[in-house]
Parts: sequence; C-alpha cells; structure tokens
Amino acid sequence: MAAFELIDLAPARDTFLEDVLSGLAATPKALPPKYFYDARGSALFERICGLPEYYPTRTELAMMRCHAVEMAAALGAGRTLIEFGSGDGVKTEILIGALRPARYLPVDISREALTASARRIAARHAPLPVTAICADYMSPFELPPAATLPRVVYFPGSTIGNLTPEDALLFLGRSREIAGNGGAMLVGVDLKKDPARLHAAYNDAQGVTAEFNLNLLARINRELGADFNLSAFRHVAFYDLLRGRIEMHLESCCTQTVTVAGRRFGFAAGERIHTENSCKYGLEEFAALASAAGFRPQAVWTDPEQLFAVHLLRA
Ligand code: AVI
Repeated sequence: MAAFELIDLAPARDTFLEDVLSGLAATPKALPPKYFYDARGSALFERICGLPEYYPTRTELAMMRCHAVEMAAALGAGRTLIEFGSGDGVKTEILIGALRPARYLPVDISREALTASARRIAARHAPLPVTAICADYMSPFELPPAATLPRVVYFPGSTIGNLTPEDALLFLGRSREIAGNGGAMLVGVDLKKDPARLHAAYNDAQGVTAEFNLNLLARINRELGADFNLSAFRHVAFYDLLRGRIEMHLESCCTQTVTVAGRRFGFAAGERIHTENSCKYGLEEFAALASAAGFRPQAVWTDPEQLFAVHLLRA
C-alpha cells in the first residue's frame, strides 16, 4: 500500500503584488525569478530542459544513471531523504531506487506539482512512506516528526545557482541544519565553462527561453491586471565572466509607461528589468562555499565534458 501524507506549511499571504510593485520601483528594476513558475512558466521550463542547447538537465540525468549506485553507497541506506523542489521526479526516482531510503519528504511551494509527483513516487516505490511538505524551502520551515535522523538532503537541478553566492551560503547553512549531525547533502551544480556554450544555453534558437522570460510579464498582466505590451520588451541573456553568472533581463524596446494595480512605471528605451541570475561554480569554488556553510565536501561526480557537478557534502 502506498503511504502518502501532505503537510501544508505554505505562507498564508500571497506577496506577488507587493514584490512586483517594489521590484518595478527599484533602481535598477528587478523581479524575483520564483515567479517564473506559474503553469505556463513551468511548461516552458520543461521545454527548456529538453532543448539541444540546454545541457544541464540531460547531463545531470545521465550522471545520476551512471553514478547513483556509488552515491548511494557513500550515503548509506535507511536514511530520511528530503528533497528541495519537485521536478519531473526522474532523477529522484533513480536516487530512491539506489539509496533505498526509510522515508521520502519532498518540499515544494507548488502544491499541485508537489502532490502529483509525491503521489506517483509513493505508488511506484511502495511501501516507502512519503510525506510531502508544501513550503518555501528558500525560507526557514519546521521539519515534521517524520523527518527522523539520519537525513540526506537532495537538491538537484543547479537551482542553487539562481541564488547569489551570499544567499547560497545562507541556504547551505540552513540545509546543514536540516541534514543534522551525521547527515549529508547531495547537490547538483552547473560548472563554469566556455562562455559561448553558456550563452547558447540561455539564448536558444527556438526562442523558448525568451518566451519563458517574457511569460513573467504575461503572468503579471493575467494575475495583477497590468498592461505590459509583450512585443515592446525583449529577452536579454548574457554571461558575466567576472561574476561567473548568466544574467537574464527584459529590455524595454522604447520609451513607455506600464500600469500595474493602478501604479504607473516609466521605462526608458533600453532600460532593463533584471529577472534572473544563474551562477556557475568551479569545483573548488563550490566546495569552499559548502565548507564555509559548515559542510565537509566528501565526494564530487562530474560528466566527461566537465559541464555539471554533483557534490556530496557531509554535515
Ligand atoms: C531552474 N534553473 C536552474 C534554471 C537555470 O538554468 O538557471 C532556470 C533557467 N532560466 C533560463 N533557463 C533556465
């Protein structure tokens, strides 16, 4: 029998409107990337993951297929597996199959995506007990009693790159607390590489990444009654070599005014809204960040092209 329960720790108050208003009032203008992922944005992100130029998803998946057994041997069986984010679950299922955890606790703010993927995993891996936690894992949240020690925290997808290094340090520090003594963290990280390869991954020929970026404005129109003219903004993504990160922006093609919930925001031609950072890390660089957060880097796996890394960090 599949054992499944849902614990709802989602914030009671929706802050989309206030985050948009304060982001558009700031200089330079910026919007939080977490708002990319409405139903349309999540579907576009899934398409991005399958694009020929976007190597991270297929590379990490191939690494899990190759190395999950070694990873599991290093982690040890019978742990509580806590996962941040619930994607399509393919990498997770490979890890579960190899690791044989005592229980599985996925954490995600999107209740529908979380429930669908957690229920599927509970059914396929019965009698594995599954406790889905609806919460924003980027902020502190309380672990339920089901999260018994020892624990393994799994954070695939290089989502850690969407945090600034300062926020990644804080996040890793909180993950260290969640892993608890004797615990571990397995984290997927996109590696620094040829800027041309990075540039192509965020400027795909089919324009799916551009659509994903522009959907943020479409979402603001849909949900907050704004009047962004989507054809008056363009997708801009580039690799900043000094900061070691891809930056995504939406650039105003002309001088214009946009109204959101009765507030007017002026745009100069060429003015940008900063929508996302995607930080890339060298192997030692990430190990140093993890050490500063209180982890001991124990092992790291990379693909033959050195595009992507999976780090095993000991708490
Ligand atoms: C979710 N995250 C790891 C993706 C990335 O590569 O930073 C989001 C993304 N943005 C544009 N393409 C993909």
